[in-house]
Amino acid sequence: LLRSVVRGCGSYLPERVLTNADLARMVDTSDEWIVQRTGIRERHIAADGETTSMLGLAAARAALADAGLEPGDIDLVICATSTPDYTFPATATQIQSGLGIAHGVAFDLQAVCSGFVFGVGTADKFLTSGSHKRALVIGAETFSRILDWNDRTTCVLFGDGAGALVLEAQEGEGNANDRGVLTSHLRSDGRHRSKLFVDGGPGSTRTVGHLRMEGREVFRHAVGMITDVITDAFEATGTTAADLDWFVPHQANKRIIDASADKLGIAPEKVVTTVDRHGNTSAASIPLALAVARADGRIKQGDLVMIEAMGGGFTWGSALIRW
Ligand code: ACO
Repeated sequence: LLRSVVRGCGSYLPERVLTNADLARMVDTSDEWIVQRTGIRERHIAADGETTSMLGLAAARAALADAGLEPGDIDLVICATSTPDYTFPATATQIQSGLGIAHGVAFDLQAVCSGFVFGVGTADKFLTSGSHKRALVIGAETFSRILDWNDRTTCVLFGDGAGALVLEAQEGEGNANDRGVLTSHLRSDGRHRSKLFVDGGPGSTRTVGHLRMEGREVFRHAVGMITDVITDAFEATGTTAADLDWFVPHQANKRIIDASADKLGIAPEKVVTTVDRHGNTSAASIPLALAVARADGRIKQGDLVMIEAMGGGFTWGSALIRW
């Protein structure tokens, strides 16, 4: 039985850091309000001309170096993003050409903040079918470009960045001790569009538009949706919260992360949190957090890692990975 095994992981953050104090000079807000409601202290912001594909390419190169692989070893590139360089072609194809490869397939995946989990689930189907051998799953975003910098209710929440995972098809035994993606559970419900969306696009205003969010409504739905798909993952694999080594949630808000972990009975010391330094980087937040926990030695080979996310659409999902 084929499994999608993690070979490497990498990330990239733009150089410029925007602190809560910086934001307090731009809109009517304070470090205290932002930290208390969200846990965010600072976020990175892309430079002029620094696009999503550039961030994604840097993360992809870091992941390949970590894996000890060459670009030519990759035959599937999936880029999860809601902030593509262009309406088309796909940002993934720009990353593919940046890597200097012209074989295999590259495409974008749009599931907003759930994009990376959807990307892992999608790559896993390709790899375990035997059709492809090695995948780069990238989450890359420049949300700074779709924020209304006059709207204090949204502009304080997001940041830019990218992360990537290299997955490789390898034979497993078919049980929960296998390395690789053990299960993934992806969901969506388009009735919730108006709670979190971008108010532009070719079919509406023909402009790029700005992110709009009913924060309280999103918060109200988030914990239930997240805990549902995580429970699905536990049931599908016969595992429990006690078996997890690490919980690496989408980094939207510390209160959502803490409430989800608490409801699931996941010990606080198993929760990887980077929202304080990165803000919400949408599809990039999970691979950025994975790269941090991998680099500082927390995540080790053989560890059981749960990733989950919830975002615009709504979309939500989980994936359980034995590293
Ligand atoms: N600084 C200071 N005051 C603010 C700010 C700010 N940046 N933003 C809002 N306020 C004010 C509001 O105007 C309001 O004032 P009022 O009472 O005088 O009307 C007050 O603070 C409370 O506003 P609420 O929106 O009710 O605050 P809440 O406690 O709900 O916190 C927040 C807002 C942080 C957005 C919260 O609702 C939340 O975290 N929601 C989930 C959002 C999220 O995580 N989205 C991303 C998930 S999906 C994805 O990742 C794309």
